[in-house]
Amino acid sequence: MSDKISCVILAAGEGRRLGLNVPKPLAPALGKALIDFPIRAVCNFSKNHKLGLNITAVVGHGRELVTEHISQYDEVNTVVQQKQLGTGDAVKSYFKGFKDADSYEYTMIICADTPLIRESQITQIFEELTSKQLDAVAATFRLTKPTGYGRIIPDKVKGFHIVEEKDADEQTKEVNLVNAGLYIFKTSYMTEHLNSLNSNNKAGEFYLTDLFESGRNVSFVEFDNSTAFLGVNTPEQLENVAHLLKKEKIAGLRANGVRFIDSRHCYVDDDVEVEAGTVIHPNTYLYGKTKIGKDSIISVGSVLTNAIVGNGCELKPYSVINESKLADGVAIGPFAHLRPGADIGAESKIGNFVEIKKSKLHTGVKVSHLSYVGDAEIGDETNIGCGFITCNYDGAKKHKTTIGKGCFIGSDSQMIAPVTIGNEAYVASGSTINQDIPDGGFGIARGRQTTKEGMAKRFIKKK
Ligand code: UD1
Ligand code: CA
Repeated sequence: MSDKISCVILAAGEGRRLGLNVPKPLAPALGKALIDFPIRAVCNFSKNHKLGLNITAVVGHGRELVTEHISQYDEVNTVVQQKQLGTGDAVKSYFKGFKDADSYEYTMIICADTPLIRESQITQIFEELTSKQLDAVAATFRLTKPTGYGRIIPDKVKGFHIVEEKDADEQTKEVNLVNAGLYIFKTSYMTEHLNSLNSNNKAGEFYLTDLFESGRNVSFVEFDNSTAFLGVNTPEQLENVAHLLKKEKIAGLRANGVRFIDSRHCYVDDDVEVEAGTVIHPNTYLYGKTKIGKDSIISVGSVLTNAIVGNGCELKPYSVINESKLADGVAIGPFAHLRPGADIGAESKIGNFVEIKKSKLHTGVKVSHLSYVGDAEIGDETNIGCGFITCNYDGAKKHKTTIGKGCFIGSDSQMIAPVTIGNEAYVASGSTINQDIPDGGFGIARGRQTTKEGMAKRFIKKK
């Protein structure tokens, strides 16, 4: 046998108390599913220890959905536990379902619903196991209210055992040292004892925890940090755990030089990336795979979803950016709305009450006030006046508006697409343009004004 570890993620439970329409391993936290966090912790652990790794998730409830989610990870496979007969039975299903299980020297057990466990806790129990040549090590911690957890009962001489809440008498319930649900076993020890587990207990389940017995060569590590092992069973716990994950995420960004004015009122998904020197104001929401460059300012009320923001950009208050891209030095808002496919070139300026959808704006374009730009391409340094509209939709199809470089498009003009305006063209204010304008052309399309002297009095009624 070589120095290899197999990690089993217990993920067959239903999580009924969460009241979600997805199985518990897929409960959402920080833009991810709960199960993504233990997978990452385990991968980091094996990478840092240069251990050959396998990861198997034991799935049951909602297994189609869980398996589909897990398929994004090449290194994770699944086995099915047909009936949820307990954590011991889940591990039995793993040995039955994964034919190479015996070839790993160590077997780690971690639960899908404990997303705050990090590589450091895994390392500590692994080092305890290997340095003392133990057969198994469990992670434990103390809780003032230990209700619901298995209680740790150390033997005076050697080993310990675990009493589950349901089976505990009043005196045992007083014990506040509890089982965290994270273990590493020598695989040979596990296979030797797994089949002798029975379900003679109050729950009628096969308890994995019965693998620990007094007199055996097993031990535990007591951790000070109980938050690392917080599990998710209720909506409140899910919210609490998501909050702690967010704090951890923000601390990581801060350590990399991102400045938060008041991070308590910011929300940042786990996959978000932000570079040093960027300042993030309160009430900002960075979702999905949003990426922000360096030295940008993200002001109050910004909501970014899968947005790519360059260096030195300024997002003024209350702008919403969805699946869009800003190159370096772009200013947006206040109150701008970038819908999917807006691609804004360097040094461009998008002002208040401007909506942009599926459009490419080249370098230095200005759309400063009250406009809708959809399905358009606008060339370098073109200035769009106030109240501009691309009439891109004829009720059935979308059409494209193309405007060249260095144009001046007067205020209150509309482009009835499809239409093409050349370079350095000029459109007079108040024009409704439905014909192409060549390079250098001037377009005007509005009713002529008539002025009648002295006629106003006919219309201004005196009270
Ligand atoms: C378990 C431990 C308990 C510990 C606690 C820590 C046992 C018997 N008890 O209790 O000592 O203090 O975790 O959180 O192990 N699962 C399956 N198949 C099953 C049953 C469970 O895959 O048949 C999975 C669940 O999806 C979950 C994990 O195993 O991810 C733990 O199961 P759960 O029912 O939550 O165990 P606890 O009662 O919390
Ligand atoms: Ca649990």
